[in-house]
Amino acid sequence: MSKTHEGSPQPLTAVKSKPLSGQVTLPGDKSISHRAMIFGLLSVGETHVTGLLEGDDVLRTAEACRALGATIDRIGDGEWRIHGVGIGGLRTPKDVLDFGNAGTGSRLMMGVVGGHPIEATFDGDASLRKRPMRRILDPLAEMGVEVVSQAEGGRCPITIRGVKDPLPITYQTPVASAQIKSAILLAALNSPGRTTVIETEATRDHTEKMLTYFGATVRVTPEGHDGRRIELEGRPELKPRPIIVPRDPSSAAFPLVAALLVPGSDILIKGVMMNPLRTGLLTTLLEMGASIEIQNTRYEGGEDVADLRVKASTLKGVDVPAARAPSMIDEYPILAVAAAFAKGETRMRGLNELRVKESDRLQAVADGLAEAGVTYAIEGDDLIVSGMNGAVRGGGTVKTHLDHRIAMSFLVMGMATDKPMTVDDERMIATSFPSFTNLMRALGAEFRA
Ligand code: S3P
Repeated sequence: MSKTHEGSPQPLTAVKSKPLSGQVTLPGDKSISHRAMIFGLLSVGETHVTGLLEGDDVLRTAEACRALGATIDRIGDGEWRIHGVGIGGLRTPKDVLDFGNAGTGSRLMMGVVGGHPIEATFDGDASLRKRPMRRILDPLAEMGVEVVSQAEGGRCPITIRGVKDPLPITYQTPVASAQIKSAILLAALNSPGRTTVIETEATRDHTEKMLTYFGATVRVTPEGHDGRRIELEGRPELKPRPIIVPRDPSSAAFPLVAALLVPGSDILIKGVMMNPLRTGLLTTLLEMGASIEIQNTRYEGGEDVADLRVKASTLKGVDVPAARAPSMIDEYPILAVAAAFAKGETRMRGLNELRVKESDRLQAVADGLAEAGVTYAIEGDDLIVSGMNGAVRGGGTVKTHLDHRIAMSFLVMGMATDKPMTVDDERMIATSFPSFTNLMRALGAEFRA
């Protein structure tokens, strides 16, 4: 068991903050950190990683990669060395692969295992055990993977038996999900042919980019209005390449919104990844009138990055189109917090996928807003927040349901509300952003245990 799951819940309270100031250096991107481990495992030789997110979720993926045969060493702060076994070289793990809270790690690794003639059991914490896995098992079954056992409704614990020659398939993902796309592509690496994934809305493309970077042949073409078609030739020989992990825009969201909401704040967030499939929150906040200057735009580690200078701002409510959801899927909780302080109504459309994240995030956000005295409505898959024009009462305790982003969002809210806000458990923050409380305190936040 890692620290996130040890002992009893740890409540934390945020009180109204003085103006925030200073520079922020964020941890590495979670999506790319998971993939760095996996690509290290699937190439023969040494993959050197710098800037890895050393959060619990990624460490679970590293453990799983070790159990499947990789030798993995931490050689410095965020610096890791992976000796992989290559496509086709995985061994059967001795124990259950325990992914803790990590949906990404478990789902991507189901794809990896599915493309090998080995059997493995996937499990995790109470949150992961509630999350739907059929969306991964269905396409894998088309490729020949056998589901040996599963909990009710296609949930963990799940045992699968992979195949030596996974069938090449053409698959249209039923929901916009980079995890489904990635699981299929990873299984297809060991397939004797071309696999095609079609997504009607483009989702984060880190897997495709890393496949190309490691030497696979991948063709990406537009599909319909917002979609993409991704074609992968099976059985490439992946060559280890150095990976520099850019800083996580989904983590940047928390100090960014805190600085917008706390009057008098002025901060600089350095080196944030600006992949356009991840910057939906930035687009939305700029539409709301946020003062965010995008400075020093550059290309690092295969991605666009920039520094963000953020000043406290008066925000106005906006209508966020459903088509933007894939590029800001993890940012709705913190956007809802920003919307609570805005002038006028914010409507966030098409949030059905929030129901199946680390918690039912739509409900968890709604309950937290209610606790803070903010009026909201849920209409179908839309969340409508009535902005309080800068003056939010706050107070009360928010239930986080083992969800790191709910915990961080409502701590940020408490930095700007009249009354302190408490989250019932801060332990899960370490899954994605272990330095969150220290980093926020260094900017001026006051958090009380
Ligand atoms: C992720 C994809 C998203 C996101 C998750 C990370 C990834 O999930 O919510 O935090 O790294 O591929 P879905 O693809 O299922 O929407």
